[in-house]
Amino acid sequence: MNRIDDAPSLPPLRPDFVWGVSTSAYQIEGAAAEDGRGPSIWDRHCRIAGAVHNGDTGDVACDHYHRWPEDVALMRRLGVDAYRFSVSWPRVLPRGRGAVNEAGLAFYDRLIDGLLEAGIEPWLCLYHWDLPLALHELGGWARRDCAGWYADYAALCAKRFGDRVRRWATFNEFSVFTLFGYAIPWAAPRIVDRDQHLRAIHHVNLAHGAGVDVLRALVPGASVGAIHNRQAVRPESDTPENRAAAALLDEHWNLAFPDPQLLGHYPPRLAAALEPYVAAGDMARIARPVDWFGLNHYGPIFAKADPAGTWGYGWGEAPPDQPDHGVGWAIFPEAFRDELLTIARRYRIPIVVTENGCGGSDAPDATGAVNDPHRIAYLEVYQRALREAVAAGADVRGFFLWSLLDNFEWGSGYGNRFGLVHVDFATGRRTPKASFRWYADRIAREKAARSGTA
Ligand code: FCB
Repeated sequence: MNRIDDAPSLPPLRPDFVWGVSTSAYQIEGAAAEDGRGPSIWDRHCRIAGAVHNGDTGDVACDHYHRWPEDVALMRRLGVDAYRFSVSWPRVLPRGRGAVNEAGLAFYDRLIDGLLEAGIEPWLCLYHWDLPLALHELGGWARRDCAGWYADYAALCAKRFGDRVRRWATFNEFSVFTLFGYAIPWAAPRIVDRDQHLRAIHHVNLAHGAGVDVLRALVPGASVGAIHNRQAVRPESDTPENRAAAALLDEHWNLAFPDPQLLGHYPPRLAAALEPYVAAGDMARIARPVDWFGLNHYGPIFAKADPAGTWGYGWGEAPPDQPDHGVGWAIFPEAFRDELLTIARRYRIPIVVTENGCGGSDAPDATGAVNDPHRIAYLEVYQRALREAVAAGADVRGFFLWSLLDNFEWGSGYGNRFGLVHVDFATGRRTPKASFRWYADRIAREKAARSGTA
């Protein structure tokens, strides 16, 4: 595989290319019952026996709620231009709607002000999977009203933070939380039901459209995008059944959200299945113009026919000779390059890579240092693939690495570490890994190149 430094002849990135890191609220904040925060569907999910590895929860996580100044200082050392984080809906609206929690809003005020003082631009994502539990109890995303509740929450954030935050994302990874939350029981709210899955897809799309309108109305000059995970879906082996499984999963995983949002229609199988739920005017409500396509990408996925699966498909195995992270995720930089080019051609809008990175089980050595050569090797080849996509015409405007910190990795609990910074979850102690120095050096060199001082 080719590394970035083997590619001196590839063209440079844009002078205003944004280098950043990403996190999300439930995965890092902790302080789950503090200062008036209400419960989310993930607080409940973590308490279901067997739902999360080791019975882990986000109750404390990285304790970022208290340690955020240290985390901002780490980002400053990294030299990033921007930080993508999410607001916890139940922290600012403990029951999802109605009474506002001032202490919750004040936390994000402090964080945003701290970032701006450090010269780091906040990129605010409104939804990274932590639906207030009270709204789920009223029907959650399976209920059409949820789009309106989301729009009211978006308006609250826009009014409060819009004087300082220009970059907004409506949602993170629509397809992951709808598929794993409503059809495959890997995420909250752990429902397995075709009908509810279909409704959730459509209602989340309506919420996105309403959110874009709210942000445009309340934040003049806002730069608004949505964050999609796109990963080529390959049949585990080339049989007609596996090909059919891959085609349906591709609709649910890659097309169910960007197609209606950016092209104004659902892909064919979904369009037929969604007919009962789509009211007159809905497609125009969903397809609101946005400024950028946020891409989260790690590696391709493999599908197989599975008659026992909710939709007749299941997750297949990667080919046995395929290198992986050590946590079972395929390392396949060509798929990243191809995904960037596919998006560029299909949707014709600027792309921001909002997540890419590498998991593992990194631990300090006897000297206390955390060496993660596997992550550096992964990033080297993915950076090269990004350059190749740009050279071939993809309009890529930024790259956010997942993640700043080791954190609560959903169903894997604390067992899968994605951070540039190691976190000792017993003490909260942060230790920058070798990859932290690698990324700081990469950014410094990119900035030097763009200012002509390299
Ligand atoms: C993405 C999620 C993010 C994190 C990474 C590893 O699917 O958006 O929260 O879990 O995977």
